[in-house]
Amino acid sequence: MLYPKHYQDSLTNSMDYWNAQARALDWFTFPAQTLSLDEENLARWYAGGTLNTSYLCLDYHVKNGRADQLALIYDSPVTDTKATYTYRELLAETARFAGVLQQQGIAKGDRVIIYMPMIPQVVFAMLACARLGAVHSVVFGGFAAHELAIRIDDAKPKLILAASGGMEIDRIVPYKPIIDAALAEAKHQPGACIVYQRSFIHADLKPGRDHDWTTLLDNAKPATYVPVDATDPLYILYTSGTTGQPKGIVRDNGGHAVALYYSMKYIYGVEPGDVYWAASDVGWVVGHSYIVYAPLLYGCTTVLFEGKPIKTPDAGTFWRLIEAYKVKVFFTAPTAFRAIKKEDPEGVLKQQYDTSHLKYLFLAGERTDMATLQWCENMLQVPVIDHWWQTESGYPMLANMTGLGLQKIKPGSAGLPVCGFDIQILDPAGQLLANGEEGAVAVKYPLPPGCLTNLWQDTPRFKASYLEQFPGYYFSGDGGYKDDEGYVYITGRMDDIINVAGHRLSTAEMEEVVAAHPAVAECAVIGVADELKGQTPVGFFSLKTGVTQSEADIEQALIQLVRNTIGPVAAFKRAVQVERLPKTRSGKILRKIMRAIADDIPFNPPSTIEDITVLDELRILMKEKRVGGGA
Ligand code: COA
Ligand code: AMP
Repeated sequence: MLYPKHYQDSLTNSMDYWNAQARALDWFTFPAQTLSLDEENLARWYAGGTLNTSYLCLDYHVKNGRADQLALIYDSPVTDTKATYTYRELLAETARFAGVLQQQGIAKGDRVIIYMPMIPQVVFAMLACARLGAVHSVVFGGFAAHELAIRIDDAKPKLILAASGGMEIDRIVPYKPIIDAALAEAKHQPGACIVYQRSFIHADLKPGRDHDWTTLLDNAKPATYVPVDATDPLYILYTSGTTGQPKGIVRDNGGHAVALYYSMKYIYGVEPGDVYWAASDVGWVVGHSYIVYAPLLYGCTTVLFEGKPIKTPDAGTFWRLIEAYKVKVFFTAPTAFRAIKKEDPEGVLKQQYDTSHLKYLFLAGERTDMATLQWCENMLQVPVIDHWWQTESGYPMLANMTGLGLQKIKPGSAGLPVCGFDIQILDPAGQLLANGEEGAVAVKYPLPPGCLTNLWQDTPRFKASYLEQFPGYYFSGDGGYKDDEGYVYITGRMDDIINVAGHRLSTAEMEEVVAAHPAVAECAVIGVADELKGQTPVGFFSLKTGVTQSEADIEQALIQLVRNTIGPVAAFKRAVQVERLPKTRSGKILRKIMRAIADDIPFNPPSTIEDITVLDELRILMKEKRVGGGA
């Protein structure tokens, strides 16, 4: 078995190990150092190395025999469109669009915000930024104008790239009004906005600021790649934190390329030339890493799917694509399979398709529940592998490293630590816990290559969020435990972040929105267990004295407010009026206990509770209103 040796090596001879992995890439200058510290005392991988991620994803393969291999397959059941791009064609599209960016004055280090649906142009745009050394920040289309504005003000982009709209099953989502609203709210104003017009929705362009994508492209000359330092940022990806301000995760070029290339071989067990499909969205980290960068770095064919697991047109869509494109490795979130299972529990649709090319199914984004795991195993007859990671890590920290020999699969566990990740379970004082004991899941710092290097222009927050809680460790924010064989079981977030249909959301951010309603005196938003989506947010609010609006009216107003401010992706669909919220004597709302009541989990009320009778009131109310599993 190769895994134990590799794992040991990656920790005890970490420099040699990661130096050897770096040699797989075609650097312009091989790094002088494997690991070093920057001026902030933060770990940096491959200082002194120069490379270009877009070159490695495209030009390198075109030069080395893959020019006519498919690089990208686009399949969009929502618009009834399919397209394919060979490596040669993808390079040509990317280089031309890089020419457009250059004409707009974009150069190394400039930020570019990308607010686009799952269309090939988003891949061209990301790779074109990387080609020039510009730093892209993709914003998921399900976020509303306010969220976009926050990101614009933080990243201060020189340019925004957008499409006229998206298609949610059969609902057209116009993007341009969202961008206009975000720009009206943001303090920072980018120089220009380039809009790709889709056939089913036309965006009005503001003269002087907005440009038509295709017109610019028609007049552009291809731009070549610009060497960047390994430590230069490739992208910023915002993710939910425990405050209203999302965190700008920064990923470098060098560590990212090495880690993702490595992961394709050793974690996912694919070969160059294989078809790899991650059914996610480019707005999330899974989309960045496993729709765009990793498959292309490794010379695979990647699939860009604009649709949903169900209703586009039916629950057989995933099976159809796996058959049509001979997908070897498939990756999605368990919630997607729960949705399919709900529509087609017996897998009748599955029988219409031949999925025999599939070797592995990988699941992440949330814990894989036993029923989903078994259903997927029955349907596909391949190993179903739960693996754990975060926007911060960029690739898995726990997995079954199939390229190092498939290990035992233990249902409920996200697997063994991936090479380079020294994962420990800590008590609140930072002491190691024994096997079987639940605590904070932490990783010895420095993290291996490919993980976040910092938060965008906010080192103090980076240190406070991840490094200061347990000195010497990176704290993941998740709880969990290890068994005697070293398998780790993730039990859930220890903070107020929730996971809704595989999407990471901040309840603190939703609370800020709910609290801003003029009728609301106090509020709490908690994640409640949900059969399909894993968790869904539920708001609880008390009213200011003198308010006469009905509970139903206020609930509707709050739902709309969250949708308009954070976006439909928040899936905020319930708000319940309470007389009062459970609090400690010092006024802290006991959200964890509210969650336990909703999910019917035993708990011990803290001795500091203000008034214990409020818990019974809440239990009765939740039952009456059918909130959560405890209802
Ligand atoms: N643009 C605009 N709106 C969007 C959007 C986008 N890119 N993505 C989602 N939304 C909207 C949806 O239309 C929906 O709106 P609604 O409230 O009007 O119905 C809302 O945001 C919630 O979307 P979603 O979470 O996708 O829920 P759903 O009920 O439409 O679908 C699932 C449920 C389980 C099928 C779907 O969430 C899914 O496929 N999840 C897998 C997620 C995933 O792959 N995550 C990546 C981690 S690997
Ligand atoms: P994101 O940053 O959006 O990728 O979300 C990361 C969070 O999702 C983690 O901190 C976990 O809480 C959760 N998560 C991701 N994968 C898993 C998994 N395999 N098992 C349990 N939780 C997971």
